[in-house]
Amino acid sequence: MHQRYRLLRLLADGCFHSGEELGTALGIGRSAVWKLTRSLEGLGVDVFAVAGKGYRLAHPLDLLDRERILSVVDGSTRELVSGLEVLPSIDSTNRFLMERIDDGLPPGSACLAEHQHSGRGRRGRAWISPFGANVYLSVSWRFDTSPDTLGGVGLAAGVAVARALHGCGIAGFGLKWPNDVLWEGRKLAGILLEMKGESTGPYDVVVGIGLNVRMPPSARASIDQPWVDIASIAGGPQDRNRIGGLLLKNLVEGLADFSRHGLEPFLAEWSRLDLVQGRAVSLSTGLGAVNGTVMGLDRFGALLLRVDGETRRYVSGEVSLRL
Ligand code: BTN
Repeated sequence: MHQRYRLLRLLADGCFHSGEELGTALGIGRSAVWKLTRSLEGLGVDVFAVAGKGYRLAHPLDLLDRERILSVVDGSTRELVSGLEVLPSIDSTNRFLMERIDDGLPPGSACLAEHQHSGRGRRGRAWISPFGANVYLSVSWRFDTSPDTLGGVGLAAGVAVARALHGCGIAGFGLKWPNDVLWEGRKLAGILLEMKGESTGPYDVVVGIGLNVRMPPSARASIDQPWVDIASIAGGPQDRNRIGGLLLKNLVEGLADFSRHGLEPFLAEWSRLDLVQGRAVSLSTGLGAVNGTVMGLDRFGALLLRVDGETRRYVSGEVSLRL
């Protein structure tokens, strides 16, 4: 990855660079430059090669910069972040943190990557993660409670994502229980929670957020659900470092608040953003599908569904609207 990352830094401005110029900077020959640029496709980066002009990216890249991200996490919130790694490429930022928990990873550790080659989504799905295009963020947190009370962490994280999006000037999106951020029915961001711990606690939780910022054309066909990115909602270039910083800041503040007060401080905001409240839905659970009307959430974040005249409580499942 090292040489490919160096090449991407050289090409990040979106201007043409000749093979000779790139070869000199990288200490390799022109045919090696050609091979290296071809290999960028595997990272989901679109590169044009034009005879007589050289190589250029389809779009300039706004590469992640650790200091710029941390500059957004100001004041006492900074103390909640015990470490931040910014990686060029990794299989999954969630896995990166999960694997380090047993080696003593301090709670409050965060990781952002330019690219994930095995990004994980909910329910065993892949999360398409092309290089330099979106935000892939994970944060680890330790809770001293039992896992039953942790059901709300993902909902608190959803509110944290919403706060970050509002901070970026994005409106018109909503939350679909339990963990989807949708804009006009299309997925803008997803949240994946993974946990480790003894049944009596403490629990280490890794919260992973994938936010679509500017999906490159070559990655679009691989996504198996309706989606949208910030660039299409807001237009114009987006500052990924600011977006990543705002996500990190709101997420650690949200996790700290959840540790102290549970879901209570998030419920009113969640309810304002709730896309399925009062709607007829089908909930697919491990035991099959249930049809009902959404009555809202209880104080632990469970979904309340009105089914055949009775209100039932669900802690997991996949909601789809019934038309
Ligand atoms: C979903 O399916 O809605 C959840 C998607 C979560 C994707 C993020 S990207 C950062 C973190 N690392 C992963 O492998 N997955 C999460």
